[in-house]
Amino acid sequence: MSAKKDYRPETRLVHAGTLRSQFGEMSEALFLTQGYIYPSAEECEARFSGKIPGYVYSRYSNPTMSMFEQRMAALEGAEAARSTATGMAAVTTALMGLVRMGDHVVAAKALFGSCRWVIEEWLARFGVTFTLVDGEDLDQWKKAVTRNTKVFFMETPTNPTLQVYDITAIAEIAHAAGAKLVVDNVFATPLYQSPLKLGADVVVYSATKHIDGQGRVLGGCILATEKIIVDNYHQLLRQTGPSLSPFNAWVLLKGLETLSVRVERETETAAKIADRLSGHDRLTRLIYPGREDHPQAAIVAKQMTGGSNLIAFEIKGGKEGAFRFLNGLSLIGITNNLGDAKSLITHPTTTTHQRLTPEQRAELGIGDGLVRLSVGLEHVDDLLEDLTGALDKV
Ligand SMILES: Cc1ncc(COP(=O)(O)O)c(C=O)c1O
Repeated sequence: MSAKKDYRPETRLVHAGTLRSQFGEMSEALFLTQGYIYPSAEECEARFSGKIPGYVYSRYSNPTMSMFEQRMAALEGAEAARSTATGMAAVTTALMGLVRMGDHVVAAKALFGSCRWVIEEWLARFGVTFTLVDGEDLDQWKKAVTRNTKVFFMETPTNPTLQVYDITAIAEIAHAAGAKLVVDNVFATPLYQSPLKLGADVVVYSATKHIDGQGRVLGGCILATEKIIVDNYHQLLRQTGPSLSPFNAWVLLKGLETLSVRVERETETAAKIADRLSGHDRLTRLIYPGREDHPQAAIVAKQMTGGSNLIAFEIKGGKEGAFRFLNGLSLIGITNNLGDAKSLITHPTTTTHQRLTPEQRAELGIGDGLVRLSVGLEHVDDLLEDLTGALDKV
């Protein structure tokens, strides 16, 4: 049974895309198979030529992958979705599928480190040029356009400073230039921001984050219209094979069932923590998209329906201060991951953004004292005790 199109997101997260086998299983089945057996040579030929639908090989597709893709598409309001082994496989495919040698990409500077590497180091090897802009400055997006610009790329909110960019305005600039806008929507989650409805052409996720949400598997997803997927990604994914494993697809499918409950609770707790820590005398600043003092609060109000479970704050005393704070935590884990049931904290300068020069980090507002907190499902008071106790040690 598939969920009706007009069910609300929470309902779609539980029911959309379910395919039942002849056994009538209640929970979605895990089809742990590489290939498929055909009832006849004729049917095998017809399936291979695409004359009749059906699975042929799990690098191409698999019923458990299909359920995950259909549930993601229903949640996002997208015509089509394709799953990938990781979020980076989704980002790399989403970009590479849209460009040819000689093309040009415009991207916001504030990107997850690996995404910047793909643009600056990898695409450049194939003769694809790029311009990095301050994502907030619409004029910079406009001025960066060349005759060969094919793709605009950004994440919003950004990693790790939680800047929020105007998707509708940037999509308009991209479309006027004949380019497509690809949005990495990991930080907002599909619950709080719908880039396709705001004008983006392609949305990508690291499903490793909130969608799994319990630290188990990696995965990714690309969502767009059927035409964009077929024209740009379908063959690229099939022939190069960055496929999601059926097991991971199954874990992520079950993760989707509880996504709204987890992310809503985490966001509620994050908002309380942000309010409590804002103005703390050991911090120089705090950024949370759910607060009125967020630098782009007007854009947040226009395009997001929730603030997310992520908070960024700068500890006094630079790296030394940040390390004293991190080492003073006993409940919250030091890691580079996010979106988990467990609260996690990251020091971007020495982890996710280590590759950038100090000047590049300064340009992005990533000071040595900045930390990024991903709020989990623990009791808010336990988290506050841990955070304020560690701040006392700074
Ligand atoms: C914003 C963003 N995009 C993409 C990725 C890549 O995802 P993955 O680790 O699943 O490849 C990450 C995190 O790793 C991320 O934070």
